[in-house]
This record gives sequence, structure tokens and C-alpha cells, in this order.
Amino acid sequence: MADVVLSIRDLQKIYPGGVHAVKGVSFEVHEGESVAVIGSSGSGKSTVLRCINRLIEPTEGIIELRGEQINTPVADVNEVRSRIGMVFQSFELFSHLKVLDNITLGLRHVRGMSKSKAEEVALEVLERVDMLDRIEAYPGNLSGGQKQRVAIARALAMKPEVILFDEPTSALDPELIGSVLKTIRGLADEGMTMVIVTHEINFARDVADRIVYLDNGQVAEEGPSSIINEPKTERLQKFLSSMHEDEIPENIENQLVNTQADHGYVPDGTGNRPRS
Ligand SMILES: Nc1ncnc2c1ncn2[C@@H]1O[C@H](COP(=O)(O)OP(=O)(O)O)[C@@H](O)[C@H]1O
Ligand SMILES: [Mg+2]
Repeated sequence: MADVVLSIRDLQKIYPGGVHAVKGVSFEVHEGESVAVIGSSGSGKSTVLRCINRLIEPTEGIIELRGEQINTPVADVNEVRSRIGMVFQSFELFSHLKVLDNITLGLRHVRGMSKSKAEEVALEVLERVDMLDRIEAYPGNLSGGQKQRVAIARALAMKPEVILFDEPTSALDPELIGSVLKTIRGLADEGMTMVIVTHEINFARDVADRIVYLDNGQVAEEGPSSIINEPKTERLQKFLSSMHEDEIPENIENQLVNTQADHGYVPDGTGNRPRS
């Protein structure tokens, strides 16, 4: 078994005000593994990711990065964040900076790189997300899918040991989802260690090595991606059938498949994934 990169043990989060969002969550992420975290809205998925990245402090529990506890007052938050990349639903790009500068900023200020070295790294990661042709653009002039690919490039540039994705496609128009899922699948194929919170169930099944299903702040089921087709618990079964009800109607789906603009994976509900 590959080395453990992330270990989350007995994580609890009670928000000020009393919402008990996470109630004893434990799981591990191994080197090169993609773990998809699924579950209905409010089940605690974002809270778990925010605790891992120390955007919020857990009420209880231990989070280790390569065997070293990172949720302690002595662990340097900036160092933790430079080792754990995060990609948000809402991109979080700097709107006043060009694409290239969005990427070089962290490299220069956190990694202390020279301008030319930072630009070299930025061009390399922008090429990986197929955004080399827009390096001079401002985020406001990009599509949602392009913005998210820049955000992924920014995370990659720091050479993180693991990247956390929090519903990376849920703010996107349907026709732009494919290009982002394709980028993430490319990273999985390259062996990047990732935790992906997503409601794209077919994507989770096709790309993730393991699925963690959260319900009401707890891991209700965990297993290989085959649990999507053969859930063991009634709770996961019910969740999956509720997701099918949300699926895109057939007429729109056909439009998506015919779209040339942002080709790639189209969540068509059949589990077929065209590789283009
Ligand atoms: N900052 C916060 N303060 C208080 N309650 C919160 C906060 N953020 C999330 N919650 C609550 O915690 C629960 C889990 O939320 P969240 O982790 O965002 O779930 P998910 O990402 O699965 O939708 C929900 O009941 C939500 O309302
Ligand atoms: Mg969330």
C-alpha cells in the first residue's frame, strides 16, 4: 500500500452557534490516490475540507500530513496551505491581476521565487490546464470553466502534496463543466493525490479510486468506486437515487454532447465518458 499522505481521525466540528457539522469523520488518503467525497448539501463536506486546509479549526480530532499533525498551534498555517492545494467552487482568483500574475503571486511571495523563475513555472502549469493562450487576460474576461482551470493551475504551481477540490464544477454552466472535469481527470491519471468533493456522481465513479459518502456529518459508507453501482447501505442507495432525479433532461444533454466549445467529459448520466 502506498504511503499515507493525509490522515483524518475522529474529526469533529461544532460551529459557534452550535451546529454540529462534522461528527467523528475518519479517512486516509494515500499517495497518488483520488478520493471522492460525496453527500447531500449540508452533510459536512466543505467543513471537512476547510478543517484539513486549516481555514477553520476543528473542535476535535487529528489531521496528519505525512504523519505529522497539522492542526496544532505550533504547525505553521502558511506552510500547511502551501503543501495542501485548494480549489474552490467560486474560483477565488484575483480579479485585478492577469492570469499569469494570479499564478506567479504565490510563487514569488510564499516560495520566494524570482519573477523569471515564477513565470517559467506559471507557463508550465498553464500549459497543463490548456490556458497558455490566455495568460494576459483578466479573470473577468474568462469563462467559468477557464477561470476554474486557472485556479487549478495556481494550486498546481505550488507543487502541493495533495489538492482538495470543493465542488469545482457546481458554479459552472453545464457546457463548461466538461473541460474542468477533463483537467481533473488528467491530474488523476498523472498520479496527483486528491480529495474531490463533487456532486458529479458518474465522474466520481469513473475517476476516484475510493468514495467516501458523508451523511449528517458522518461517514455513512466508504469503499471502492464500485459502491456507486452497488451501494451497501440504504442511506447511500437513497442518496444516489435522489441524484438521478436531478439529472439533466435528455434534450439539453444532446445539446451538450454536440457542443464544440468546451468538449470533454459530459455528465450524461450513462456513465459513458468520451475521451477526446
Ligand atoms: N460558518 C458556519 N457557521 C455555522 N454553521 C455552518 C457554517 N458553515 C457551515 N455550517 C453548517 O454546517 C453544516 C455542514 O455544512 P457544510 O460543511 O457546508 O456542508 P456541505 O459542504 O456538505 O454542503 C450545515 O448545517 C451548515 O449549515
Ligand atoms: Mg459544500
